[in-house]
Amino acid sequence: MTLYGIPPAGMRRAMAPESGRDHAHAIADAAHAWWTSNRGGSSDRAIAVGTLAGLALSAPSRPEGPDYGPLLLPLNDEQLIDALRAGWNSFWTYDPDLTEAARPLHDWLSHPTETDIRGLSDYARVLVRAGLLEYCSDTARAESDDVLGLLITRMRSYSERQSTGEFFTPAVAADHMGDILFSTDRRPGDLFLEAAAGTGTMARAAAATLRFFGNDPAKYRWWLNDLDPLNSACCAVSAQLWRLGRHVTVSCGDALNDPRLLEEAVRERAERATAEQQTRPVLYPTRTRPPFWPWQSVPPS
Ligand SMILES: C[S@@+](CC[C@H](N)C(=O)[O-])C[C@H]1O[C@@H](n2cnc3c(N)ncnc32)[C@H](O)[C@@H]1O
Repeated sequence: MTLYGIPPAGMRRAMAPESGRDHAHAIADAAHAWWTSNRGGSSDRAIAVGTLAGLALSAPSRPEGPDYGPLLLPLNDEQLIDALRAGWNSFWTYDPDLTEAARPLHDWLSHPTETDIRGLSDYARVLVRAGLLEYCSDTARAESDDVLGLLITRMRSYSERQSTGEFFTPAVAADHMGDILFSTDRRPGDLFLEAAAGTGTMARAAAATLRFFGNDPAKYRWWLNDLDPLNSACCAVSAQLWRLGRHVTVSCGDALNDPRLLEEAVRERAERATAEQQTRPVLYPTRTRPPFWPWQSVPPS
């Protein structure tokens, strides 16, 4: 039985590509194909990637569900915007600093124009149909590739990427680096620092290696920095998808000039975000549904 042509979660899981990496590529391909044919080229990439990120954060924390697909499928564009707002509100409650670091992916939700919103519920259905929720709720799948990075790469032209050197390491190569880095003697509390992290695929690979050897990435510290605001925003979301834990710092700045300035800036941002969250528990007021719908006050951990 299908609703809007989309089978229930169990069947979507069974129909997903067997390899998590193929699944990530299929999701990014479906997202990019919809965007280019319906929204024209690679414009509004913060909205394209931000919508995928918001839905990814809202996926259940376990593969067994619950299935949020039926809650998302019937939404119209306006209601989808409120569902995304609710997702970011949950993340804001859970980790105000990472939500702040991810701001380029959700800032547009404060005052979206009609053009920003047009067709987004259809886009969300494409992502659900491609199995985004099942991909994100299964740690082994979610850490097998960098789905946000894959979509960003598709949305940037070759010449654009050439001008900034944005060629992310393919997952298969990053995984070898992760093996080399983390199969040797590492101790809980050690810091993994990537000064030019892109969208964080090296951290993803390192976390996967740690888990492979029976260690918990959440017991380590992670610092991901990138010069590009959208890249570092993706790091903030993916840190959650890859279950890196609570000791994650994400910054956006020039790591070559004066890294100490980055330290100062992130400390100030964290203090500001924590204080603001106390006085402003809801980041984005919603109009069509409760502010944390359908999720409670904390997102998956
Ligand atoms: C070749 S990509 C590699 C990204 C990632 N380390 C990987 O392996 O996929 C280089 C990244 O460095 C970033 N970058 C370039 N100059 C930088 C700087 N001065 N400070 C911080 N990041 C920088 C770019 O935005 C880009 O994302």
